[in-house]
Amino acid sequence: MGWNLCCIFPLHGWNLQTPSSSLYMSFIIYKPASMEDVDEEIVRRINDEKVKRGIAIMRCQSKLHIRNINQERTKTVKENLEALKIRLEETEDELKYFTTTNAELVGEVMQPLGKERFLVKVNEGVRYIVNRSSLAAHSKLVSGTRVSLQRRTFTIMRILPPKVNPFVQKMVYQHDGGDVSYSDLGGLTHQLKDVRDWIERPLIDPDIFERVGVKPPKGVLLYGPPGTGKTLLAKAISSNINSTFLMVVSSSLVSKYVGESSLLVREMFKYAREHQPCIIFMDEIDAIGRRRSSYGEGDTSECDRVLIELLSQLDGFNELDKVTVIMATNRPDVLDPALLRPGRIDKKIEFSLPNEDSRMRIIKIHASGITKQGDIDYEKVVKLSEGFSGADMRNICTEAGMLALRAGHDYVVPNDFIKAVTKLGEAKKLESSAHYSAGF
Ligand SMILES: Nc1ncnc2c1ncn2[C@@H]1O[C@H](COP(=O)(O)OP(=O)(O)OP(=O)(O)O)[C@@H](O)[C@H]1O
Ligand SMILES: [Mg+2]
Repeated sequence: MGWNLCCIFPLHGWNLQTPSSSLYMSFIIYKPASMEDVDEEIVRRINDEKVKRGIAIMRCQSKLHIRNINQERTKTVKENLEALKIRLEETEDELKYFTTTNAELVGEVMQPLGKERFLVKVNEGVRYIVNRSSLAAHSKLVSGTRVSLQRRTFTIMRILPPKVNPFVQKMVYQHDGGDVSYSDLGGLTHQLKDVRDWIERPLIDPDIFERVGVKPPKGVLLYGPPGTGKTLLAKAISSNINSTFLMVVSSSLVSKYVGESSLLVREMFKYAREHQPCIIFMDEIDAIGRRRSSYGEGDTSECDRVLIELLSQLDGFNELDKVTVIMATNRPDVLDPALLRPGRIDKKIEFSLPNEDSRMRIIKIHASGITKQGDIDYEKVVKLSEGFSGADMRNICTEAGMLALRAGHDYVVPNDFIKAVTKLGEAKKLESSAHYSAGF
């Protein structure tokens, strides 16, 4: 609010020679944006010392305020300048690199031999003792670092990013719009709570485990009948947690080439350790985690090797690593006891068939996107769906939609749901009643 005394005094019709505390008040009420605005001549004509002091204080405060604003601005400009300087340096480095070198070899540092000399492995075998250029900081040249070397002198020119197996890269979960939120899960309240305690907490707040003095879990097993939401829950975690998420169907780890599968498992864990905090989700773990004696003759060795590698990797990373492995299966009864022991799998979370309440939630989630006409009697549908899994509940909605299509409607009527659940119930009676108990 910019003003000066010239416009206030005529307004109040004051005698400037009269000491007045009201004048002082007017400064307080109408604080000027800048006290520089106050006319020097008017101030000189004021006799009241108190008022003069007031004006001086306000001038001081105004200057302080302006100084603070300027300081903030300078700070921001300085920060921007620093960032720009770093970018300039990087660009200059790159320019220098492209114009002055012809680094064409890729090697790996075996061992640093002081600050300037390094033992480097080139082409999977030949080893050289080489120097480094100023572009490669010696502190970053530790064993295992990938570097580029100049062709003629073998000087280390650059530090390269670690090599990532394309199969492992493919496992990294991408948020591509098909994200599952926790509200898409019907029921599963206990399982969700367990997952949050055992998986999210160690990654988000590892210190709490240290304070309490317990070791954070390394592995969690989700088990239960097919279609009970194990994979769905894992997808919900991946979409909602702020960490790297590797998702793999275990059978894809088994390669037809000898030794490749265990190498892939090793690289998967290496990637996880390099990108902590990280969750590895291994779906259908029974594909590689079966009891070792229970394989047929043909693929015994390769599956065994993958399992052995997995066991040793689970032992390999220590409690301080922020890596958690989630495994899911609908056949916990066939898993190898070595895989299931605490220390490798610390928590087993059961996914049982949903009860009435959960079935109601699941069908409402899946029916929410369907065009309906009339009031659907969900209670009756849920009562008729005893023994149905979450996937079956979704199937009721699909089946009801198909019945509507067949009847030539573009909406579903309540009777379609009843017909669908009755039809699926009858079909389910013909299914073999497999036993999914864990028997741990
Ligand atoms: N609790 C649930 N809430 C909502 N939808 C569910 C739930 N459980 C299952 N579903 C539905 O069933 C589908 C299959 O579930 P999911 O793939 O998670 O089963 P699963 O337990 O992994 O089965 P499997 O052991 O055969 O792999 C899901 O895509 C989802 O549409
Ligand atoms: Mg699954």
